[in-house]
Parts: sequence; structure tokens; C-alpha cells
Amino acid sequence: MTTQAKGGHTHNNGVPAVLVINGPNLNLLGMREPEIYGHTTLEDINRELIALGTELGIRVESFQSNSEGALVDRIQQARGIIDLIIINPAAYTHTSIAIRDALIAIEAPIIEVHLSNVYKRESFRHHSTIADVVEARLIGFGADGYLLALRAAARMIKAQREKREER
Ligand code: DQA
Repeated sequence: MTTQAKGGHTHNNGVPAVLVINGPNLNLLGMREPEIYGHTTLEDINRELIALGTELGIRVESFQSNSEGALVDRIQQARGIIDLIIINPAAYTHTSIAIRDALIAIEAPIIEVHLSNVYKRESFRHHSTIADVVEARLIGFGADGYLLALRAAARMIKAQREKREER
């Protein structure tokens, strides 16, 4: 059975799929500025996301890249396949129109995550190129932000599917 994704594309109406995308330098989590970003590694986070996904009945895919083009490519590949994207674009949050445009093109709900409270930091971190195109933002919860986002994603996807079934 197939269903209509947000933009009218078809994808399998099986297990919901969430793509978790992390931008530059987040591969160094745990080692990089631990006083700001904590001691949890990206591997730890991904493992916890998969475990929580199993509990929530969601297939979780994770992708990290230091390169803007690779991030754009991965977002494009998710079109019509992924139910929701959780993204921490890291430093590209503040600069990337390409990532913003890719997220708009994918036509799926997006949750923006930041480990640190960017508003307590330098002013150049206060601007996000994607803040107005995402459904929701989780900022300053550290690694827990990703898990909170996945719980929220499960509810959003469920509500979306129920709405579709009503039609
Ligand atoms: C970050 C905040 C960004 O300003 C920074 O460039 C990062 C990580 C965060 O998760 O707090 O790399 O996105």
C-alpha cells in the first residue's frame, strides 16, 4: 500500500522512517569543546536513536557530513522516502541557503536540533537560515535534544497519517 507524502509523492505506508542529519564537526562530538557540547559521542547518540526508534516503531537512518554539498545530496535523496527529517546543520545553520532550499524541496516535516543554546553564545549563532521552514526547534538540551525530537517526530508522523486516512 502506498500513501501520499506531504508533497504528493508516494512512499510505502510501512514503518515510518526518520532521517537524522548532522553537519560539520559533529563527528567530533565527545572530544570537541565538551564544556559546550558534552561528552556523548555521535555514535552514542545514533545508537540511542536506533534503540528509541525500535521502541517507537520508527526506522532511524543517520547521516553526518562535513561538506555542504554532501548534506544537500542526502536531503534530496530522502524526497518521497523519508517521513520526517531531524537536522542539526551545525555551522551551516548560520550560512547555508543551499541546505535551506533542499529542505524546502523535500516537502517533509523538519525538526531543527542544536545541542547548545545558541542564543547564549556569539551573535552570529543567533541566525538560522532554516528556522522559518522547520516545524519545530529543540535548542540547548544537549544530546537529549535528538531523543526528544524523535519522540516528537513519532507523534507528528502518527498525526499526519491519521489525517491522511480521514481523506
Ligand atoms: C550547533 C551550534 C552551531 O553554532 C555550531 O556551529 C555547531 C553546533 C549546536 O548543536 O549547538 O557546530 O549546531
